[in-house]
Amino acid sequence: MKIGVLTSGGDAPGMNACVRAVVRSAIHFGFEAYGIFDGYKGLVENKIRKLTRNDVGQILNRGGTILGSSRLESFKQEEVRQIAIDNLNEHGIDALVVIGGDGTYRGGMALNDMGINVVAIPGTIDNDIASTEYTIGFFTALDTAIDAIDKLRDTSFSHQRCTVVEVMGRDCGDLSIYSGIACGAEIVITKETGFNRENVLKQVKWAQSIGKRHLIVVVAEHITNVFDLAKDIQSNSDYESRATVLGYIQRGGNPSAFDRILASKMGVHATELLKQGLGGMAVYTNSLEIGHCPINEALSATDETTDLYEYLAKLN
Ligand code: F6P
Repeated sequence: MKIGVLTSGGDAPGMNACVRAVVRSAIHFGFEAYGIFDGYKGLVENKIRKLTRNDVGQILNRGGTILGSSRLESFKQEEVRQIAIDNLNEHGIDALVVIGGDGTYRGGMALNDMGINVVAIPGTIDNDIASTEYTIGFFTALDTAIDAIDKLRDTSFSHQRCTVVEVMGRDCGDLSIYSGIACGAEIVITKETGFNRENVLKQVKWAQSIGKRHLIVVVAEHITNVFDLAKDIQSNSDYESRATVLGYIQRGGNPSAFDRILASKMGVHATELLKQGLGGMAVYTNSLEIGHCPINEALSATDETTDLYEYLAKLN
């Protein structure tokens, strides 16, 4: 079997670790691995090359994606996808792993319907794929946002200011609410909470009334203009206010430990599915649930990390 792999949509830290896992595990199973460069655009433009074990060496820890990425609106058209299928056929590629967000999933499903076995892996900083608890890149982007907000907090405290921070996430508030909790933000505004100016000003006044020296307000992108909001807060409270847009810095950087492991496991899982001849599948994780059990049970439970040793064998 020949397995192609591509990354598509907004890049996310951990995509490289995932590409490495797909390529190495494909070779481990006796298949050939092909890199498709620059996402679906590169697939249509026939930017396809066979990859060796060594081609994916030294990338596990690197941010971005060595394969490159793109967004291709015209991939919705069947005739454009047919060119992609023709290119895959030319290289004899029978199966495809696509790493990205929901747009990538839709493109992958459409190719699957045209006869190529496709497995989709969630790779996006937005964490907006409902079928999985976490996407590759989310926790690294979260660490970046937290690091930036911690720094903003230092100066916000010194100057007794209200600091309004815009966080990425497209239409999903996860990066905002997680960073809000992790940084102790007083107010978090997302699509999920909705934006009500009066309520926000009420919360600011309440913070002032209980003697808070400074405030952090996290706002998800596309909700409201953070510079206008900061001005509004300044005119309606005693807090001097400033706004910061974190922007694309959230997409870069070396993947965190969590993202490296998630990406490695998901990449291996994808090739295992293709080995079984399964296409049209989306890989997910559901692992960080909080629960409880009697202490006695906790003491007698056995550890289940042994499966990681099986993954390791397929990643070399
Ligand atoms: O999907 C990742 C993401 O960074 C979103 O958070 C953001 O809305 C979007 O991509 C920006 O896209 P582009 O790179 O096309 O400007």
